Amino acid sequence: MSKATVIGAGNVGATVAECVARKDMINEVVLIDIKPGLSEGKALDLAQAAPIHGYDTRVIGSTNDYAATADSDICVITSGVPRKPGMSRDDLLAINAKIVHSVTEAFVARSPNAIIIVVSNPLDVMAYVAYMASGFPSHRIMGMAGVLDTARYRCFLAMELGVSVNDIQCLLMGGHGDTMVPLPRYTSVAGIPLTELMDMSRIHAIIERVKMGGGELVKLMGTSAWYAPGAGAAEMVEAIVKDSKRVLPCAAMLKGEYGYSNLFIGTPVRLGRGGVESIIEVALDEEERALMSQSAAHVRANLDALKRIQDAQA
Ligand code: NAI
Ligand code: 2OP
Repeated sequence: MSKATVIGAGNVGATVAECVARKDMINEVVLIDIKPGLSEGKALDLAQAAPIHGYDTRVIGSTNDYAATADSDICVITSGVPRKPGMSRDDLLAINAKIVHSVTEAFVARSPNAIIIVVSNPLDVMAYVAYMASGFPSHRIMGMAGVLDTARYRCFLAMELGVSVNDIQCLLMGGHGDTMVPLPRYTSVAGIPLTELMDMSRIHAIIERVKMGGGELVKLMGTSAWYAPGAGAAEMVEAIVKDSKRVLPCAAMLKGEYGYSNLFIGTPVRLGRGGVESIIEVALDEEERALMSQSAAHVRANLDALKRIQDAQA
């Protein structure tokens, strides 16, 4: 693969472009934004960082001219509004749906064979919006949230246990929001089940912090996070570009798996050159299934709310 586009050159988009460039695995990254000069400026800054970091990836900026994105192999959509203190991700629904729909249409017209990773919130619904707007098969559309949420989970567990983040493996499913479903049963430290290292009350306290992890940062900074989200999207780009068959939690279209259909929601998938090459179904116990059902109901309620908004506007 030789060309990636990142739509939205704000906090997350610029970080994705930087992380992708620093991996030096792709010839060209195009950064595109509606704000005049923003993407050109950030692209030039990243080009000037190349001699220091040593990457050969070219970074090019464009103000809303999709000609520059033509024949991209992969695209990360970060355009949209982030939340402010007091807002939930769901408050961004109407405005971000319009933005994600329009940028997807503009992008796919020039890159009909690309794979799209959506980051804009509310994530699971925006992945659905991009799927509808693109007309692509569902394995070429996915959302980034699980990689971020599991990174937060691993970070907090590592802090608590005083071990390396590299030794923590975990699984987290469901929608990107307060109803996300971390699975302590599928969490281990160098192969040792987490439940043998920490009592359940402490595990639950950490899970609560993960669920509120985005909000914790919004309170501190007045806007949402970008370093970990940008790194998360770049990790997915890398798995696809290198065809490495990573097993990562992503928002993917379910077609009967876990009992759900026609829904983008967080699930472990195998990522490779084909995009979502398979959805991995793990056994859930009764409590985990109930949490997953709550989370799916939340995503569906947001999809229904979006449909009502769109019908009212039609
Ligand atoms: P930001 O405000 O820093 O950047 C957004 C950029 O999108 C701005 O530069 C803006 O000019 C651009 N934009 C708006 N409309 C556009 C259009 N039609 N075409 C091209 N560019 C357009 O926001 P930030 O922090 O980068 O967040 C971006 C989105 O990502 C938000 O919706 C946020 O909620 C979401 N997010 C999702 C995460 C996840 O885990 N899925 C994590 C962090 C953020
Ligand atoms: C986050 O979790 C805002 O979704 C974004 O940081």
